[in-house]
Amino acid sequence: MTNLASHQTASLNTAAIASFAGDIPGLAGDLRSDHAGEAGAVAIYIGILAVCRDPEIRQFATAHLATEREHLAHMEALLQPAQRSLLLPIWRVAGWLTGALPALVSSRAVYATIDAVETFVDQHYEDQVRKLPSDGPGGVLRSLLVACQADEVHHRDEARGARPGSDGILLRSWQWLVEAGSALAVSAARRI
Ligand SMILES: [Fe+2]
Ligand SMILES: [Fe+2]
Repeated sequence: MTNLASHQTASLNTAAIASFAGDIPGLAGDLRSDHAGEAGAVAIYIGILAVCRDPEIRQFATAHLATEREHLAHMEALLQPAQRSLLLPIWRVAGWLTGALPALVSSRAVYATIDAVETFVDQHYEDQVRKLPSDGPGGVLRSLLVACQADEVHHRDEARGARPGSDGILLRSWQWLVEAGSALAVSAARRI
């Protein structure tokens, strides 16, 4: 993972989070949405790999899947099962479809989808990073989120660089739908 030593996050667990959660408004909901989002991200790449035979896309999805699994493992360390979203099965199915559907259409559609998802996720992490302190246990969490965010930006840039030219109206409408769906999922996962 980009810019993150494992010793930095070793101290980050549910007890450490509980020690400062009261100081950061909405932290529990934010983390629940991060965990749900990373579970959805893993499912996106599993969905792509389930239907796509294009070696270039498979390589792209396999590399990203490994990173998303790492992100998910970090989020799992921060939330006890009872604190996670009750809607996880829905996020997994939605993620799988978000990967598999464009993969049935074209490689360009896959790249456009990842571009849209990661553009959203970059902003999602940015909003949280701004709320966290730069030192103490909150600072360690901040470093973790910054490192995840850097990976997501890298994913976005890869997806962007892989499809020169501009997307058609259909693909742009799909991207809009993906971003709107992600926003809806985040706001639901914050609560449920
Ligand atoms: Fe991720
Ligand atoms: Fe990502």
